[in-house]
Amino acid sequence: MSNSKKTIFSAVQPSGEITLGNYLGAIKNWVNLQNDYKCIFALADLHTITVRQNPKEFNRRIIELYALFLACGIDPQKSIFFIQSQVHTHANLGWILQCYTQFGELSRMTQFKDKSKKHVDNINAGLFCYPSLMAADILLYNADLVPVGADQKQHLELTRNIAERFNGIYGDTFVIPEPYVAKIGAKVASLQDPTKKMSKSDKNSNACVRMMDDADVIIKKFKRAVTDSNNEVKFRNENTGIDNLIGIYSCITSKSAEEVEKEFEGKGYGDFKKAVGEAVVNELIPIQERFKDYISNEDYLVKCFRKAREEALEISEKTLNEVKTKIGFYL
Ligand code: TYM
Repeated sequence: MSNSKKTIFSAVQPSGEITLGNYLGAIKNWVNLQNDYKCIFALADLHTITVRQNPKEFNRRIIELYALFLACGIDPQKSIFFIQSQVHTHANLGWILQCYTQFGELSRMTQFKDKSKKHVDNINAGLFCYPSLMAADILLYNADLVPVGADQKQHLELTRNIAERFNGIYGDTFVIPEPYVAKIGAKVASLQDPTKKMSKSDKNSNACVRMMDDADVIIKKFKRAVTDSNNEVKFRNENTGIDNLIGIYSCITSKSAEEVEKEFEGKGYGDFKKAVGEAVVNELIPIQERFKDYISNEDYLVKCFRKAREEALEISEKTLNEVKTKIGFYL
């Protein structure tokens, strides 16, 4: 990896079966960025225990997700792709940065507000402090850019504030990261309620396409997707169901909204929804095939994430040591 390349960091939580939203909002972009940037990606499993997990299922999900990311095109030779809990620097810097994050700042995080409504019986300190850990993830690698979906922008802004605050007290330490939010795909909405994001935890199974859904299930979900009361495939930028479907289709086919409108001129929503479903199937089925190969070769996966752990440690320990020295700790 050449040093002149800018550094990218991003992560996904192994908190459930990942969705088409995660794929289009994050992973697909990561794959494309690998050639032009120094890329560091993580499975953010420390974040996931802010919600109670079944140990067996959680353990299995981590390795399955690791395999799925390789199947999506994350190349362990080009990128460092590691598992967060295996790299001790994250929890360590996470604690330190909590001491540089204000209670008021964390209280304003919309994700905290949403999740604490969803898990009223377990509003734990980790759920509240989670953005400081996310800041640590990013700042440990001095990332220039952080490719995320729109829902993570607020956490990114907080990361920048924490970094600026620390730099202000101790002198230049952290690179101030920029969010990298793609123009399309940054906010894939639920197929049943376009005002909500497509989410792993949606109770309505038709709302969300999962990466491992069968072809006929995907086609059915798109057939049932809500649209609007017009009958013209036209992007209106009003967060309607049809805007969402155009976004998904253009993200997958790399066509602009205007090109999509032209392609479906004179055709109805039925034809369009069928085409979107088919495009998604054509994108996901080869990934599912590759996933089967990777997951049946666990030794290879373990080899990849152990190598990535060493690479991640080498970079992040330098940052952590610099931070600790500046604060006054003994190394
Ligand atoms: P997570 O696991 O909820 O989501 C992973 C990525 O997927 C994006 N995403 C979406 N994009 C478009 N449409 C959707 N419907 C949609 N749903 C999810 C998210 O924006 C995200 O980019 N806290 C993070 C994980 C994390 C992280 C980090 C990210 C931990 N440390 C450091 C960046 C940098 C999270 O819970 O993402």
